[in-house]
Amino acid sequence: MPQTVKGVISRSKGADVELVDVVVPDPGPGEAVVTIETCGVCHTDLHYREGGINDDYPFLLGHEAAGRVEAVGEGVTDVAPGDFVILNWRAVCGQCRACAKGKPQYCFDTHNATQKMTLTDGTELTPALGIGAFIEKTLVAAGQCTKVPEADAAAVGLLGCGVMAGFGAAVNTGGVSRGDSIAVIGCGGVGNAAIAGARVAGATTIIAVDVSDAKLEQATHFGATHTVNSSTTEPVEAIRSLTGGNGADVVVEAVGRPETYEQAFYARDLAGTVVLVGVPTPDQQVTLPMIDIFGRGGALKSSWYGDCLPSRDFPMLVDLYTQGRFDLDAFVTERIGLGDVEAAFDKMHTGNVLRSVVVL
Ligand SMILES: NC(=O)c1ccc[n+]([C@@H]2O[C@H](COP(=O)([O-])OP(=O)(O)OC[C@H]3O[C@@H](n4cnc5c(N)ncnc54)[C@H](O)[C@@H]3O)[C@@H](O)[C@H]2O)c1
Ligand SMILES: [Zn+2]
Ligand SMILES: [Zn+2]
Repeated sequence: MPQTVKGVISRSKGADVELVDVVVPDPGPGEAVVTIETCGVCHTDLHYREGGINDDYPFLLGHEAAGRVEAVGEGVTDVAPGDFVILNWRAVCGQCRACAKGKPQYCFDTHNATQKMTLTDGTELTPALGIGAFIEKTLVAAGQCTKVPEADAAAVGLLGCGVMAGFGAAVNTGGVSRGDSIAVIGCGGVGNAAIAGARVAGATTIIAVDVSDAKLEQATHFGATHTVNSSTTEPVEAIRSLTGGNGADVVVEAVGRPETYEQAFYARDLAGTVVLVGVPTPDQQVTLPMIDIFGRGGALKSSWYGDCLPSRDFPMLVDLYTQGRFDLDAFVTERIGLGDVEAAFDKMHTGNVLRSVVVL
């Protein structure tokens, strides 16, 4: 029997989100219904609400979640009812050209549920990143459920998006390793996770750049060795002077704006790597002298989801967390209700919030 539960949708561009009844079908072949325990509020949810991702309204928001499998459909063997899982937006297909080359972290044909969740009048919802988890129960492809050791859902659920994206941007995409220098521009949930990842990987110079002193203080907790407030200090010069005049080996851009991308481009050392993990809006443009793109060498990379492989990375990061080597608790600034998502969006612009986490 389909179930009707409460969920948070974005009905039209820029309008406040609404808490409404959502109909969740029983899981079909290859699908699972998951009881959501927690879901973090990621900046990408706000991008959806503002029309920055696409126009497929209404969206069922939320995609950074942990919960328990309630039921599985035909043919599902990897997870079973009762399993504690983190939801992922990279259920790899195993067959596309990336998977065939042994690079499933770039899978071009990831799985989502086939059936649609709907409003009570039958209107189909577009789940954010194929998940939709600001809701009591959600329907996903079974491959989107990654089984992990039992741990605080509010903390480990953040691995489902922003924290994984940031950690992986530094460690997987940027390839930061021991002795490297790294600068991270934008120290929200994503940027601070990049800082934490750089520390785990052994970077020795870790420069945090943000326009908020509160965020920079948090960055120090996660492992920043230096901080730069770019609203008062020119960040490219500051990063260069903190790295012997050269620039950082890796610069992670975790804002998603042309001016911060340009800063990242010029703040890296010759032959260094820029990693863009911040998500730009479709209208944004950068103009760079081509001679500098050539002359500075190195690599300009983008990082989707930190180039993670959920089945490999989520359990490993939960282990680092339970061993006390990766402080996921410190990303959880507040625990809120399903009705508080709009207020959490406001706090993204003003407050010291790394993550507001909806607890169901
Ligand atoms: N690539 C991916 O897979 C992926 C996954 C999750 C999120 N994201 C994106 O990463 C970005 C960051 O997400 P978040 O959840 O950490 O957002 P957030 O709002 O928590 O953090 C953004 C941070 O950037 C800072 N900032 C804003 N303007 C700045 C500027 N001009 N210079 C320096 N710092 C500035 C803010 O003070 C804030 O600390 C967003 O664009 C989000 O959509 C990407
Ligand atoms: Zn694939
Ligand atoms: Zn996200």
